[in-house]
Amino acid sequence: MNDRERAGGRLAAAFLVLSIAGSVAFAAGFALDASTQILGLGLGTAFLALAGTLVVWSRMLMPHEQVADPHHPLRSPQPLRDEATASLEEGAEQIVGRRRWLVRLGYAALGFLGLAALFPIRSLGPSPAGKVGRSNWRDGLRLVREDGRLVRAGEIDTGSVVTAFPEGFTGRNNENAMANDAVMLVHVDASALQLPAARADWAPQGFIAYSKVCTHAGCPVALYRQGPQQLFCPCHQSTFNVLDGGSVVFGPAARALPQLPLALEADGSLRAGGPLSDAVGPDTWG
Ligand code: FES
Repeated sequence: MNDRERAGGRLAAAFLVLSIAGSVAFAAGFALDASTQILGLGLGTAFLALAGTLVVWSRMLMPHEQVADPHHPLRSPQPLRDEATASLEEGAEQIVGRRRWLVRLGYAALGFLGLAALFPIRSLGPSPAGKVGRSNWRDGLRLVREDGRLVRAGEIDTGSVVTAFPEGFTGRNNENAMANDAVMLVHVDASALQLPAARADWAPQGFIAYSKVCTHAGCPVALYRQGPQQLFCPCHQSTFNVLDGGSVVFGPAARALPQLPLALEADGSLRAGGPLSDAVGPDTWG
């Protein structure tokens, strides 16, 4: 083995180890709900390092010299042929033996990549017990803003809207849950409310909250139309009535927005009086 082959072997091994590290990082990131950037970095590293191994192998470890042997018209005697065959087999055995550890490392890298792929494949199945459509809202949780600050009734004028989350479920570790938990808190004129009798006390002093996840296909229902008192989803124009419990006024959504029962505390904070009235998002999430 010459110096070039030795260097190629070391470089290929380094790439394979890097690929294994990338696969492990991807699998761990997926299990720990890491950000998409981290997952992409892990998977990208695994594939790029494998590609690097192939390049090194083809350029530094494969023989490139052209060998020509003149054809002899006469057949060699049998002892000479046996000797040549034995010599060839011994040489091949030596080459395979030298690179066997590298081949094993290659199999290990492919194995780790395959194992890492099982994590996202597993999540392609049915949602675990409808977890996707659930939120963290429950009785007693106060409403906070995205940065964790308490929502105070005195800060929200009539005709204004605030996106709110359950206290204790915001921040970097809750980014996925926050998408399900987000509610649009609207302050309307209490005398205009037309809520069903069972929800008569769900909107104290005109503070009313609905899930921000559209029941059509899950886009954020991010627009509030103050005039007609409607929440509007920009994806396919589903429109919901703020005053009567979130019924569908227009668009492809087939179900009202889930409403969050609210209670107003003496200190001006708002808290949930129970969970959302229905599953979050489209029915296909349940
Ligand atoms: S996702 Fe809201 S209307 Fe389609």
